[in-house]
Formats: sequence, C-alpha cells, structure tokens
Amino acid sequence: MKPNPDFGVAVIGAGFMGGAHTEALRRLGMKVTGILDVKPELSLAAAAKFGLPHGYESFEAVLSDPSVNAVHITTPNKLHHAMTLAALEAGKHVLCEKPLAMNSAESGELVKRAAEKPHLHTGVNYNIRFYPLNIEARNKDLGKIHSIIGSYVQDWLLYDTDYNWRVLAEEGGALRAVADIGTHWLDLVTSISCLTVESVFADLKVVHPIRRRPIGEVETFKSTADLELKDVEITTEDQGSVLLRFKGGATGVLWVSQATAGRKNRLTYEIAGAQGSMAWDSDKNNEIWFGHRSKANESLVKDPGLLSGGAASASSYPGGHAEGYPDSFKQCFASFYGSIFGDSVSAPHASFADGHKEVLLCEAILKSHQEERWVKVGE
Ligand SMILES: NC(=O)c1ccc[n+]([C@@H]2O[C@H](COP(=O)([O-])OP(=O)(O)OC[C@H]3O[C@@H](n4cnc5c(N)ncnc54)[C@H](O)[C@@H]3O)[C@@H](O)[C@H]2O)c1
Repeated sequence: MKPNPDFGVAVIGAGFMGGAHTEALRRLGMKVTGILDVKPELSLAAAAKFGLPHGYESFEAVLSDPSVNAVHITTPNKLHHAMTLAALEAGKHVLCEKPLAMNSAESGELVKRAAEKPHLHTGVNYNIRFYPLNIEARNKDLGKIHSIIGSYVQDWLLYDTDYNWRVLAEEGGALRAVADIGTHWLDLVTSISCLTVESVFADLKVVHPIRRRPIGEVETFKSTADLELKDVEITTEDQGSVLLRFKGGATGVLWVSQATAGRKNRLTYEIAGAQGSMAWDSDKNNEIWFGHRSKANESLVKDPGLLSGGAASASSYPGGHAEGYPDSFKQCFASFYGSIFGDSVSAPHASFADGHKEVLLCEAILKSHQEERWVKVGE
C-alpha cells in the first residue's frame, strides 16, 4: 500500500485499541489527524502521549473536520452502531472494531446503510486474518474439509476481582467470551476455509456470577489491585464450548475461555481435509504445521521467500525476523486502505457483512445455550 499524505484518519477511543490502531496507522505512513476519548482532557492527554496534532473535543468535532477522510472506531461495543452511522452520514470511511454491534438489528442496519454509500469503504478489524501464515493457510487447498477445531483462551478475567466494561452485558453485549474472542476464531477459520457455519450447539458458563467492581473504570488488561471494590452481578459467560455444523457437511468445535490461568491470549485451530490438514497456534505464530497421511509432515516458518502471493506481501520482514500481533493490525489496515487507494491487497479485510455474520452467530450461540438445542444461524 502506498501512503497518501492528503488522506487523514482519526482514531475514536484512546484505550488499548486506540493505541494499537494509532501505532499501526503510523507504521504504514498514514496521516493520523488526531484522537478522541470520552472527555476532552483525555483526548488531549492521548494526543500528547502519541504525539498527534489534535485531541478532539467531541465526536462532532471529528466528523466536521474536513481533513478527516476515515475514522477508526475503537470504543466499547455499545457505541459502535451509533458512531458508525454518524460517521457514514458525515461521509467518512469507517473501520470499526469487533464485534461490529450489540445485536443483529444494529449490525444489519450498518450493512444496509453502508451499501447505500458504496463510495465509502467499511470494514471490521478482524486482524488475526492478517498474520502471514493465516494468509498462507487460506491459500492452501486441503480438498473437501472434514473438520475444524480449536480454541481461543485467555486468563485476564480469572479472578472475581478482575473487571472491565466487557463483563457487563449492557456495555459489551449479551455474550462476552464468545463475542470478544470467539468471533475472532470464527471469522478466521471461516475466512480460511471459505465455509459458512450453518448451525450451532453451545454450552456456556459464567465462572463468577458476582465480580468485585472497582469504583471507577479500568483499562483492558490492567490490574485492579489497590482499588476500592463493590459487588456486581455478571450474566456474561467466562467460558464455553460450541459444536459447529458447516454448510457442505464439515463439523467442528470451538472452546473459549477468559479464565484459564497462564494462557494469556492463545488462539489455535486445526483444519482437516481430504488431502491433508493444517494447524496454527498464535503463541508460535511464525510457524504453521501441515499434516500428511502418506508423506512426512511439514512445519513452515514464516519467510516471505517461501510463502505464496498474499502471505509474502503481508510479511514486512525477512525469514527469521518474527512478526506478531501489532503487525497484524498494520497488515489489516494495509488491506483496508489499499482497497480504498486501488492498490493490490494481501487478503480481503472483514466487511460489514462479515461482521454482521459474526453477530448472527453470537445470537444463535446464545439461543442454543438457553434452549439446550441445535440452532440454525439466523433462525
Ligand atoms: N481486534 C482486536 O484484537 C481487539 C482487541 C481488544 C479490543 N478490541 C475491541 O476494541 C474495542 C475497544 O476495546 P479496548 O480493549 O480498547 O477497550 P478500552 O476500555 O481499553 O478502551 C476504550 C476507550 O474508549 C473510550 N471511550 C468510551 N466512550 C467513549 C466515547 N463516547 N467517545 C470516545 N471514546 C470513548 C474509553 O474512555 C477508553 O479509553 C472493543 O470493541 C473491543 O471488542 C479488539
């Protein structure tokens, strides 16, 4: 992607993701016009921290800034829908964090409104697609797929004193672990395999029905030690398993947990087909395993000289030089802006339609858990 110095991007939300987006945009050479947080003084502090020209006063100030061509929405989930609608109305391209919205009525409306403005580009930041070896995986033909299994496991909500806005259904949505990290896995494996989930059977569990909430807010992944606490009732799941049936006959299973000690942020998948299988583990993300029945298995270490088309172009460093989580944002944004600027892209970024599909999946998973039965997606 060739940067365009006249194209401005504003970042909305200055938390964990606001920082990650700002850094990745600047590594790509994009012009970041400024950042907005919930209060003007927080916007100014974030602008000073990141060395940006503006700490915006309000979302309206961002939308009326003619130097802003695109916005990245990195606020809590409950704000995605209204902010995205307003940004589209103001004529801005939108890259929104996942999940796209709180429910499928909202995400469906965003798909519709984006389609009415085809001159504006829209996308959802399912960044894990953009590890080079996940692009290599999507380029691999395993023949007819039989099964897809895997997990996304973290430990940052293990203790009842761990707290963040995500644990409240009204802030993050009725589902938490599944929506927050499970949808990353579902987006990844369906984009690699080109399969669609047809129906689900889910068993979810709230490990801590009561959490000890600090008085005040807590940034993602920050400790709550030394803060004053009060009890709060939790309805969103800490862990769960989901059986999957894909269109075409493949079956699978996903395990998610935000309460597994020692697993900081680990996504794994194993996809098995008629002509071979493949497995990837985000804790060793510069390696992918290909399994064979009638010859020796292979382990491929990321090296652009050994990768196919898009996977090679999504590697900015030579073999032996690891690339990881922050690089996946850079490559995702290169795809998003490359598609705006008419450059070739390494792989497609997730569209609003993909984001809507994930929200529909979440609703089917919740319904299945509540009714203890198989549920068709979109039923
Ligand atoms: N793609 C990924 O890997 C990934 C990782 C983490 C989070 N996320 C997503 O990113 C989003 C943000 O998560 P986070 O972990 O950065 O949360 P966070 O709590 O660290 O940051 C959110 C920020 O938004 C600010 N904010 C709240 N209301 C606002 C408003 N009205 N206007 C402007 N700013 C406002 C908060 O003050 C905070 O600074 C969520 O939707 C989450 O699901 C994606």
